[in-house]
Amino acid sequence: MQLHPTGKFDNHASKYSYITAHPLAAAMGAEIEGVQLATLTDEQEREIKDALCRHKMIYLRNQQDLSHAQHEKFSLRFGSFAEDAYTSGVPGHRNVHPLIKEADDQSKMVFGEGWHTDSPFLAEPPAITILRSVEIPPFGGDTTFANSALAYRMLSDSYQKMIAQLRVHFSLRDVLQAVYDSVEERDSPIGRLAATRHATTISEDLARKIRGNVHPLVRTHPVTQEKALYVDCSYAVGIEGMTRQESAPILDFLGAHLVQPAFSCRLRWEPHMVVVWDNRLCVHQAYNDYQGYRREMYRTTISGEKPS
Ligand code: SIN
Repeated sequence: MQLHPTGKFDNHASKYSYITAHPLAAAMGAEIEGVQLATLTDEQEREIKDALCRHKMIYLRNQQDLSHAQHEKFSLRFGSFAEDAYTSGVPGHRNVHPLIKEADDQSKMVFGEGWHTDSPFLAEPPAITILRSVEIPPFGGDTTFANSALAYRMLSDSYQKMIAQLRVHFSLRDVLQAVYDSVEERDSPIGRLAATRHATTISEDLARKIRGNVHPLVRTHPVTQEKALYVDCSYAVGIEGMTRQESAPILDFLGAHLVQPAFSCRLRWEPHMVVVWDNRLCVHQAYNDYQGYRREMYRTTISGEKPS
């Protein structure tokens, strides 16, 4: 039986002057009220950024006035756009990436399935992701998040010491194979990736993402200095300097430790929500559980530093 020291959970909201934050779960997440992103003020921006660091994932309801251009403008308050590893954007807004699954798509995998942090196989993975909903199935299509800073704090001192200097190899390899095995070819980010299964040679761009990058397993958040596990169950394929047999038990343990329910929260989407998460402090996962219904989302990603 596994017990969690209760004193290590703290998802209380701070008292703000220009926004209100309501915690979603004990581990992480908060709803932000009192804000229309289309007319965001600088004071609200400052408090939203503080709430994001504190809660790791924040969400706002009723943002129906947000156009693609305003989604971009809000995103740019967090930094410049990141390289998006999967899509090329909607016409006229190349940094707004459509994540649309049609009702008749029979694919056995959906974009974002499997616990992950966004694109850790890049040299400078995106720090922040901003996802906006337009159409949501009547049930299903939730997103779950897990707090990787809390998961780090919940490790014993001995385990923390053991992993302090380890570096993880992240690669697109296994996710690409899962896409090839289970996704229909369609005009969608994951459908277009599936279509590359017929290529006789791999493009340099794909080869670069399969080669991937090596990053510290424990990273320090540049703003809060909070330490968090930087590992996931999708892109982490090895540990630098270790054989597969040596690294597998560590990655398996940490992958399971990270995403246990005690460290997570589950977001039930509504149309016109905007969700912001910090990939340096949490992992997330989408679900392919709404077959027969359409889900339409738009995503931007904000560039991050080299993890350290
Ligand atoms: C993602 O992984 O960015 C997509 C999450 C979702 O569609 O719920």
